[in-house]
Amino acid sequence: MSDPKNHSAEAALAALKELQHEIQESVLDSIEAVDEYRIRFLSRKQGQITALLKRIPEVANEHKKHFGQEINAAKALVEARIESATVQFSAGEESSGPVPDLTLPGRVAAKGSLHPITQALRLITRVFESYGFEVAEGPEIEDDWHNFSALNFPPDHPARDMQDTFFIEAPSHVHSGILLRTHTSPVQIRVMENKKPPIRVIVPGRVYRNEAISYKSYCLFHQVEGLYIDEGVTMANLKQIIHAFARTMFGENVKMRFRPSFFPFTEPSAEVDIWWEDANLPDGGRWMEIMGCGMVDPNVLEGLGIDSEKYTGYAFGMGIERISMLRFGIEDIRILYENDVRFLEQFS
Ligand code: DAH
Repeated sequence: MSDPKNHSAEAALAALKELQHEIQESVLDSIEAVDEYRIRFLSRKQGQITALLKRIPEVANEHKKHFGQEINAAKALVEARIESATVQFSAGEESSGPVPDLTLPGRVAAKGSLHPITQALRLITRVFESYGFEVAEGPEIEDDWHNFSALNFPPDHPARDMQDTFFIEAPSHVHSGILLRTHTSPVQIRVMENKKPPIRVIVPGRVYRNEAISYKSYCLFHQVEGLYIDEGVTMANLKQIIHAFARTMFGENVKMRFRPSFFPFTEPSAEVDIWWEDANLPDGGRWMEIMGCGMVDPNVLEGLGIDSEKYTGYAFGMGIERISMLRFGIEDIRILYENDVRFLEQFS
């Protein structure tokens, strides 16, 4: 201990220890802190590592090598810490904002679905396609001729009042009136204008009626129309196909009845009811009308140049909203047109 050289060697070693500690512990939490750190330890003039290197002569010869190695290791550590801190801060600059939390659960993309009316239209159309019917379509803006006259509604006949019509243009000397079609039956006429029998078509589409809006009627709704014209088509064929359809829609054991009715374009005409079971009703259910139908009136065929002695045909038309409401237990028709996602989601 009396040797001054030994004494200063010890001091140099202590300084080295102290330096190593500071290199390790300095907080590098900003670009500025990193700059200060660099100057403090690495600056040629005032850097603490440079200062320590200058003290090597104070150290005993046998320790010099080790002392030098320790300083080099300390210097390497300073450089490594500067580098990693610099990378960290420059990365933070590029993608400003918080680092994403990779442990968060993923977001599920919302998936749309077809509207229940579209689903029902497609289902019904598919059933009839499987019986050999072809799909036909016609315009929603119709003329009075196709919507009424050609379907055997006489002018000023009260039958026209059965359907509350939205007129676009009143009848004039140029045309017989332009309107929003009140049913899909005018497409029967358009098909017969363009095609010779045999004809077998199914017609899905939108129709309009000027009715007071309530839980059971809306100003627009959808129908599916059917038409079959060939030699020897009978009412029995009609009953058979409608029965097959009802079994597909409402189940094998569906109870169904044909009730005599009237439509200007069919003779005879009928309405089809199915028995809808409902335990809350005194009879355990009730008859619900699902469509109108009948044998195409010879007047309609003759008006289109089809020989009614040779050809006969049946036609039917059904309201899709009514059938969907039955199937899905929907009690208010208006909900079908509100586009409330909470409602629509139930049909995906
Ligand atoms: N078009 C009629 C309506 O909207 C429904 C209808 C009844 C269509 C009998 C037909 C039919 O094709 O034969 O009320």
